[in-house]
Amino acid sequence: MSKTIVSPSILSADFSDFGKAAADIDASGAKWLHMDVMDGSFVPNLTFGAPLVSAMRKKTGAFLDVHLMIVNPGRYIGDFAKAGADGITFHYEAETHTQKYLAEIRALGLKAGIAIVPSTPISVLEETLPFIDLALIMSVNPGFGGQKLIPECLKKVEKLVKMRESSGFDFKISVDGGVNEETAESVKQAGADILVIGSAFFKNPDKSGLVNKLQG
Ligand code: DX5
Ligand code: ZN
Repeated sequence: MSKTIVSPSILSADFSDFGKAAADIDASGAKWLHMDVMDGSFVPNLTFGAPLVSAMRKKTGAFLDVHLMIVNPGRYIGDFAKAGADGITFHYEAETHTQKYLAEIRALGLKAGIAIVPSTPISVLEETLPFIDLALIMSVNPGFGGQKLIPECLKKVEKLVKMRESSGFDFKISVDGGVNEETAESVKQAGADILVIGSAFFKNPDKSGLVNKLQG
């Protein structure tokens, strides 16, 4: 089995110093950097857009893992690709024409991801499996960092692992929300390949120790 990928989320970084956040992530040994784009409509919070992706692109060679929590995500794929995203993940709940936009992301040479919130059943992903490189299972209701992981969401991860096996398609499973040193083991046990980790990463003084432990 391949190594777990840790994707620190800059949602929990010091917003007055994103350069330091990028440097901290690089120094920790994490190879991915997660960016939560929120529009105040799909989720009850606002964060940042493509200009910050382009700024982070200048600061790090990490895989820029962009998570769009916005309505009409299809409209912005070109902007985020141009800004230097390596992967774009949007929500199943926010877009009717998921196959079309997943294909568009891949056609731009990027990794295509689909995300679902805790209340959405895993079964709805069936028709997207041929089109994805990544499925992101939210383990908190999106909008804010520092929330508690909803354990029921891990059952969905187990179901998705089975769906992946029976479908024969190859994609990574990412879990986002409430992942920390205490919950990470159960998240990995459930079958996650990628751990998105926000507050638990930025508040930990020993970031490389944390990444080493979670990547094992
Ligand atoms: C939640 C975001 C997450 C968040 C995770 O809406 O999508 O990516 O940054 O943060 P923690 O790890 O603090 O739950
Ligand atoms: Zn996220």
